[in-house]
Amino acid sequence: MKVKPSESLKIDVFSMRIGDIQDVDLDRLHALSLSVGWPHRAEDWQFLRESGQGFVALDEIGRVLGSAMWFPHGADFATVGMVITSPRLQTLGAGQWLMKRVFDKIPGRDLRLNATRAARRLYLSLDFQPEKTVYQCQGIAHAERTGTETRGGIRILDATDIPAAIALDAAGFGVRRAALIEKLFGHSTGYGLFKDDKLIAFSLCRPFGRGHVVGPVVAEGDSDALAVVRPHVVDHSGSFLRIDTHMDSGEFAAFLSHAGMPVFDTVLTMSLGKRLADFAADGSATPRTYALASQTLG
Ligand SMILES: CC(C)(COP(=O)(O)OP(=O)(O)OC[C@H]1O[C@@H](n2cnc3c(N)ncnc32)[C@H](O)[C@@H]1OP(=O)(O)O)[C@@H](O)C(=O)NCCC(=O)NCCS
Repeated sequence: MKVKPSESLKIDVFSMRIGDIQDVDLDRLHALSLSVGWPHRAEDWQFLRESGQGFVALDEIGRVLGSAMWFPHGADFATVGMVITSPRLQTLGAGQWLMKRVFDKIPGRDLRLNATRAARRLYLSLDFQPEKTVYQCQGIAHAERTGTETRGGIRILDATDIPAAIALDAAGFGVRRAALIEKLFGHSTGYGLFKDDKLIAFSLCRPFGRGHVVGPVVAEGDSDALAVVRPHVVDHSGSFLRIDTHMDSGEFAAFLSHAGMPVFDTVLTMSLGKRLADFAADGSATPRTYALASQTLG
């Protein structure tokens, strides 16, 4: 007599082990981010792996079920990103476990990250403090080259501009990230605004996800930021462009939605240790970060 199969099947909870993110197949990382609906390409993962370090959670047969990365800048600071657990594992403690491994690896550093809504509770329970909202603006870009007056001359950046861009980025971000900016230059087209031969604003744009991402963008005010972002929007008119910004109003934010990049989603910048304000430079005319390098990199 045949036994009818049951309508349900109980699968035992299995155990996971920790691994180095550098040792796993890129395709497996790509599959993990696809499983949570993220747009990263394998190339984007590769860029991140070359820029930072991280852990993966592996099951008994080597499948990647979770990840967490950090990107150190100097001896005291790091950004955290690519924190993912596979959907069928979520809310079981794997996110906490991965984050605690990261804490063990980089004790005492001030940390900054951009939290999705799904991750907010996880980071609050780990004592991260909410800072400010990031607006993920994206869409099919459109803009025309205009003869708008700018405070100086605009030109495409080259390798000789890297030191000036590193200094400007540090003023906006609050921490010097020389290696990252140099690496981004190798993957990006950049525009700079120069006054008396001094770089006063810049923007980079590189392939990412579904199209291109503009960032970082550093400028002293909205019109300078616009002056260095508009050329990228013109270059990519008719194709997918994304920019992650803290700006929620003003000329810059308005331009993005008029240029086909309305707010698609938001995340929350959070910090552990030193707060964002602790990194801010004094003075009203200091450069500000108008767009993140990416949500992962900050
Ligand atoms: C965010 C994410 C990494 C959390 O991982 P996880 O394995 O579910 O985390 P944990 O099981 O360790 O849960 C940690 C805390 O968050 C809570 N939590 C987890 N998922 C939640 C959800 N969807 N809604 C509300 N709370 C949630 C847990 O209850 C737990 O809270 P507690 O510490 O107060 O008990 C996972 O949901 C994920 O990969 N999401 C998609 C990708 C993403 O958004 N990544 C975050 C990038 S910043």
